[in-house]
Amino acid sequence: MPCKVVVGAQWGDEGKGKITDLLAETANVVVRYQGGSNAGHTVVAGGETFKLHLIPSGILHEDVLSVMADGTVIDPHCLAEEYQGLQARGVSCRNLRISGNAHVIMPYHSRLDALQEEARGRVSIGTTRRGIGPVYTDKTARMPQPVRMWDLLDESVLRQRVAGQLAEKNKVFGVLYGVPPMDPDEVVAEVMQHVPVFAHCITDTRTLVAAQHRAGATIVLEGAQGTFLDLDYGTYPYVTSSHPVAGGACLGTGIGPTAIDSVTIVCKSYSTRVGAGAFPTEQANPDGDLIRERGREYGTTTGRPRRCGWLDGVALRTSAQINSATGLAITMLDVLNPFPSIRICTAYEIDGERYEMMPGNLELLARATPIYEELPGWGQEVSDCRKLADLPENARRYVERMAEIAETPVEMVSVGPGREQTLLD
Ligand code: IMP
Repeated sequence: MPCKVVVGAQWGDEGKGKITDLLAETANVVVRYQGGSNAGHTVVAGGETFKLHLIPSGILHEDVLSVMADGTVIDPHCLAEEYQGLQARGVSCRNLRISGNAHVIMPYHSRLDALQEEARGRVSIGTTRRGIGPVYTDKTARMPQPVRMWDLLDESVLRQRVAGQLAEKNKVFGVLYGVPPMDPDEVVAEVMQHVPVFAHCITDTRTLVAAQHRAGATIVLEGAQGTFLDLDYGTYPYVTSSHPVAGGACLGTGIGPTAIDSVTIVCKSYSTRVGAGAFPTEQANPDGDLIRERGREYGTTTGRPRRCGWLDGVALRTSAQINSATGLAITMLDVLNPFPSIRICTAYEIDGERYEMMPGNLELLARATPIYEELPGWGQEVSDCRKLADLPENARRYVERMAEIAETPVEMVSVGPGREQTLLD
């Protein structure tokens, strides 16, 4: 009854969707434990590409229970659209279960997210404007009338909660931002039109997952975003408002720490970041542009071009430690094919001192100069390799160096979007 966590080792977009989908082949349950429609998980199956924002990447396996746990935040419009989009393509969503305790992203949360970002001006975070920060703020502030998924099952309860929320939010809209108030009836109507699509999926998921675990099920806990977007471990304040790290997999899922058997950290063979914040190995130059074009590094959710750079080994090493990683899944190796030589940052120099781990004081990180080592490229196609042994020697050396830095064994290497383009041994 293994219980596995899949977590992003970097700043998100590492290819967790593909890795989760692969692990789901031998799983009974896949649980998404945090985040909302700010995420974008791409899975290619049977030659078809599926872009998932909310629904766990296990959904493409008909027999796997796909669970959205208490820690996720759910935009009803986005959920209904994704659910119906999957159904239209022949994917049954009959195994989807949604926690009644998950907080709902209401239209006023997305509006507030956009207004807050505008107001921050030059120091904006670069959020996805999906309402993530405002909904988690309400959750943490224990607002008197929060809306959780249970509340969507009774329109009179929802009406009461929206009225309570807007009594406060409309003051903020008017006084702070000078925008018109929102009408409670319109907000309720906007949300309720989507509810019939997924109402039957709302349930007590933590009890369900705990029971599955007791019964011996194989469970994959899927994180969204990545380690350095974590509210505590990330490059604060340029982070998301939840806990993507492996520890977050125990929050509201029904699974406790001692039940977790393995943690797979997913790391690209280079680095990317969307939005603002420190990024020591960023290459705002033709190398970065080549990575972006080859890796199609544009946001799945927002379409924004991602910032691209060399692999940050300091981040990888720190991530392996923070997440107590047991395995390393390397993705996008094929993107590096054309580079004659490839750089890996193995340490930072900050104020004349060498740092091998990400400093806790982020003022220091802002002054970090990467110390690079240079590895020879392999200059040939690797996307048709099917075993690690098929990789050209220099590509194998690169993979081995990543594992050495992470002090974590390689579990798999992805050389393309397809399920079959995954090297396991
Ligand atoms: P928020 O989660 O929308 O509040 O955005 C906060 C920060 O996290 C911004 O820098 C976003 O670009 C980043 N972010 C949020 N979700 C993702 C993701 O799935 N991949 C990469 N970056 C993300």
